[in-house]
Amino acid sequence: MEMINIQKTGYEKIAVFRDPDAGLRAYVAIHSTALGPAAGGVRMRPYRDEQDALEDVLRLSRAMTYKAAMANLPLGGGKSVIVGDPARDKSPALWEAFGRCLESLEGDYIAAEDMGTSPADMDAISRHTRHVVGTSAARGGTGDPASYTARGVLAGIQAALLWRFGEEKIAGRRIAIQGLGAVGSELAAALAGAGAALAVSDVRGERMEEAAGMFGAERVAPEDIHRAECDVFAPCAMGGALTEETVKELRCEVVAGSANNQLASSNAGKLLALRGILYAPDYAINAGGLIGATARLVGLDPAGREAKIKSIGTRLLRVFLRAEREGLRTEEAANLEAEEVIHTKLVRRKIGEARRRALSAGVRPARYARTV
Ligand code: NAI
Repeated sequence: MEMINIQKTGYEKIAVFRDPDAGLRAYVAIHSTALGPAAGGVRMRPYRDEQDALEDVLRLSRAMTYKAAMANLPLGGGKSVIVGDPARDKSPALWEAFGRCLESLEGDYIAAEDMGTSPADMDAISRHTRHVVGTSAARGGTGDPASYTARGVLAGIQAALLWRFGEEKIAGRRIAIQGLGAVGSELAAALAGAGAALAVSDVRGERMEEAAGMFGAERVAPEDIHRAECDVFAPCAMGGALTEETVKELRCEVVAGSANNQLASSNAGKLLALRGILYAPDYAINAGGLIGATARLVGLDPAGREAKIKSIGTRLLRVFLRAEREGLRTEEAANLEAEEVIHTKLVRRKIGEARRRALSAGVRPARYARTV
């Protein structure tokens, strides 16, 4: 196994692992451990080249720092990517080698499921390292995080409705869901159960048929779903759903869904704000999966976990309020909220270190206010 470290300002550690015998090429980026060990998924994709993989892991690990901070979890942000085809290139040797990579990072990075990996893969990794969550229930883990994510998105949609319409009631609202995968299908069931009228879309026709049959949802072609007239448009498929072109055509009051990296560009975000559409920032509303997958790790019991997932709604209300008060876009307000959580923790840590140094030198420590 070969390990190379790459230095980059703003990142604590970037490690490239290569094990040709096991067919492993992996990048692990630890963006920040300011709040705790860096948690983040293992993404497996046939990346175009090294640069493509590196850019992805850097972007994703930074986003995890913001997501964990926004969810008020004692976790930092990290991510790993494995270069390979998830349908062809998985093997016990690959997971063993990857498990050894994680072990060598001594717990600074905690892996979890992501695109291209599954709870079964986390099980395989967990045979070789302790630093992994999201294993299957059979191995004592939390399994697929999608239902936690869907519950968080539901709480976020309610908060957005409250902010926009003065009441969080879902009954009678029309909601368009793009993508009926693991998260989208659970969200559809929850929304339909609460009395929403649904418009749904998926590139897999059978998923639309199923939603139409089960919830009376209207089926909309994938190229048209963003144009559906509705109260809430919920992107739950791939990233980049909100481009300048699609934003111009939206006919909703609110965008609130699970997909990561919904804004294809900052111009798309500006246009959303200009059009007066309320945007629930992606990493704030989709943190339920992270909360569910790491609940045991951070010592949350099921009631604490559910309360934290619910609090996604309250956090979004803070973001909306801040955006309104400070004349910001909601994604800008979310970044400031997350950065403040991190800065507060870093200042507390500095004070704690100074206090310990003073005490061990037999000097009376300086007094600082307990709240920062
Ligand atoms: P998934 O892969 O199970 O579902 C995605 C669905 O979108 C599939 O049914 C696919 O056929 C459909 N789709 C793809 N392109 C489409 C298009 N152009 N129009 C309509 N449908 C399309 O993924 P999952 O787990 O449901 O995640 C959905 C999104 O939420 C992803 O962006 C993911 O990164 C994000 N997310 C998921 C979390 C989780 O716990 N699974 C946690 C946080 C974010």
